[in-house]
Amino acid sequence: MMRKKLVAGNWKMNGSLAQNRALLASLCQQLPILSCEVAVFPPFPYLSQASELLHGSSIRLGAQTLSEYREGAYTGEVAAGMLREVGCSYVLVGHSERRSLFAESDQAIARKFLAALASGLNPILCFGETLEERQAGVTLDVIKRQVLAVLACLDGGSWPQSAILAYEPVWAIGTGLTATPLQAQEVHAYVRSLLNQGGEEAGVAEVRILYGGSVRAKNARELFCQPDIDGGLIGGASLNVDEFLEICRAAT
Ligand code: PGA
Repeated sequence: MMRKKLVAGNWKMNGSLAQNRALLASLCQQLPILSCEVAVFPPFPYLSQASELLHGSSIRLGAQTLSEYREGAYTGEVAAGMLREVGCSYVLVGHSERRSLFAESDQAIARKFLAALASGLNPILCFGETLEERQAGVTLDVIKRQVLAVLACLDGGSWPQSAILAYEPVWAIGTGLTATPLQAQEVHAYVRSLLNQGGEEAGVAEVRILYGGSVRAKNARELFCQPDIDGGLIGGASLNVDEFLEICRAAT
């Protein structure tokens, strides 16, 4: 079993036409032939621009969220089919900022996840506990609730190989605090066991589970060495070309 590592750069609400052009040009130019996969997640208005700039490169494109609806009178929403049309292969679903700042529920997240799959986008389901939850010793319960909310909606309760998960402890996002490799590995192994529930799901060994939360060049390698960590979801450090490239190298 060989899972290809994925390094995903979540730009959040950052960038401009000029900044994106510079960042993507350097990435395309300097990214050596890597054995890992690399993807970037710019804000919606820049997806077309990024898609053009990445044309001919192996860097994949993703969006940061999507609508659960296919089309229609949903002002401000963006549909999965639109993301596909502008060249996205991936979409983040249930990022902690969506959950906490925009009140996305486990149920809404499950519907978005299904909408992504239905149009052929590969969803990346983000989940993770808050500091209070970790301190109260309920980390695995919270993660179980977040993952099962989606798993329960899937056909036959089986996780599709094209869908990815990303463990992002809320207390580690944008804080400079990182889960230790062992803390992260414990959660990743637990999540893989959850996906296996109800019998030996043949494909589960192939499902990728990323770690996110203050991943930097200096801590990436020891995280990516853990047996169940299949790459990273990188926020702040994805806006810095040198740092991001170093993280990509750590995944190879
Ligand atoms: P960070 O963000 O790397 O800045 O902590 C990670 C994320 O939110 O995906």
